[in-house]
Amino acid sequence: MEEEINLQKKYINKIKELNNKENKYYILTMGCQLNENDSEKISGMLEDMGYNKIDKMEEASLIVFNTCCIRENAEDKLFGKLGEAKKIKEKKNTIIAICGCMMQQKHIIEKIKKSYPYVDIIFGTHTLHKLPEDLYKVILNSIKINDVIDIDGKVYEGLPISRNDTVKASVTIMYGCDNFCSYCIVPYVRGRERSRRPEDIIEEVTKLAKDGYKEITLLGQNVNSYMNAERKKDKSIQYGFANLLRDINKIEGIERIRFISPHPKDFTDDVIDAIKDCDKVCKIIHLPLQSGSTNVLKNMNRKYTKESYLNLVNKIKNKIPYVTFSTDIIVGFPGETQEDFEETLDVVEKVKFEQVYMFIYSRRIGTSADKMLNQIPEEIKHKRFDKLKTLVESQIPENNKKYINTIQKVLIEGKSKNNEKMLTGRTETNKVVVLDADEKYINKIIDVKIIEDCMWYLKGGR
Ligand code: 5AD
Ligand code: SF4
Repeated sequence: MEEEINLQKKYINKIKELNNKENKYYILTMGCQLNENDSEKISGMLEDMGYNKIDKMEEASLIVFNTCCIRENAEDKLFGKLGEAKKIKEKKNTIIAICGCMMQQKHIIEKIKKSYPYVDIIFGTHTLHKLPEDLYKVILNSIKINDVIDIDGKVYEGLPISRNDTVKASVTIMYGCDNFCSYCIVPYVRGRERSRRPEDIIEEVTKLAKDGYKEITLLGQNVNSYMNAERKKDKSIQYGFANLLRDINKIEGIERIRFISPHPKDFTDDVIDAIKDCDKVCKIIHLPLQSGSTNVLKNMNRKYTKESYLNLVNKIKNKIPYVTFSTDIIVGFPGETQEDFEETLDVVEKVKFEQVYMFIYSRRIGTSADKMLNQIPEEIKHKRFDKLKTLVESQIPENNKKYINTIQKVLIEGKSKNNEKMLTGRTETNKVVVLDADEKYINKIIDVKIIEDCMWYLKGGR
């Protein structure tokens, strides 16, 4: 594997020799934080090749679209963007590359070949590290490259990375997913679970701490099954997610640790204890619910019930004082009845999540839910979505009220986008706080008194 990365580094240098100062790239990332993290690796490679990142697509000599396929709207977005890119290519002979989850779907590749033949490079989730080689061939020989493989990619270490932020950083700890929730395309496009070695993760986080990063988010489709696949293969391995949390908690300079996403079915006691014991691990847990109906959960292949989810929440609450939760919910899964939907509302009322990420069920070709006969009409899906949204929004003022006049530890991230004179940061529970304070506090955790509830953010004073 090291050999493969060294080979790619040779291609990076070859392109660097070809490139002049004017080379600019534009990258658009769709989808989740894992994709954002992949884009940071793509940026790392491109910048080592002498490309400079720009925000205006029309000025780029290389355009990269890093795609997502978790819901249908991501596809619409890509095809719209490809139309724009074509016009730019006609003027400037721009190289167009597409990568990410959507490229692992055969019907998408066929559609691109047929309707968007001007795309130069297609690469998938398992061949990201080969971008230098693919790009070199395109530049030199003006050929089209399709570099997508179906087999699971290996875990490659040592790729350059160019990060988007200077305060917070994401670190992927595992790739793929073995759960096959019936609605989800991820296991098909990201392959089987494979974890990075703890020492490689710890080395990366230690370097981030040295570079001044204060907050780390550990990423994976299923973080609390970290090393499960490896433990199954080799019985002598005992290391798991709880050990990783404890080891990262020891790294000097890092002040906050978050992780997304755990699966309720893998939330073992040792993980709860580690969250409790580790002072840097934020006491807000993202615990995807998906549905509050035991029936729907069964059809979703989630492997827990409404009761066991609520029991888990209570167990965590009993062990960790002041813990809060955020969640993901899908409405309109096939066969979801009004009663099923009301069970979801019931869980939302009971748990009082800090944040709820709400999704309308989207049919994904190849998943087992797509073949279910009792699909819910769009109109009902939307009505349920609106009802859930109304409930979630009705809980915000009450939730915000509990912050008023309290002192919160806020990690200051920078100037507010809407008002240059103000700073913005986040509480441990991920609430946005806007305050009037000196710039010297950027990248520091400071005590802030919360003085006003502004619905989507809180106002702080010093
Ligand atoms: N339709 C709607 N939402 C989905 N998610 C995953 N697959 C689908 C789908 N087919 C949601 C889940 C998951 C989040 C990342 O995206 O809630 O937790
Ligand atoms: Fe998809 Fe379920 Fe895996 Fe999450 S755990 S990526 S929802 S299959």
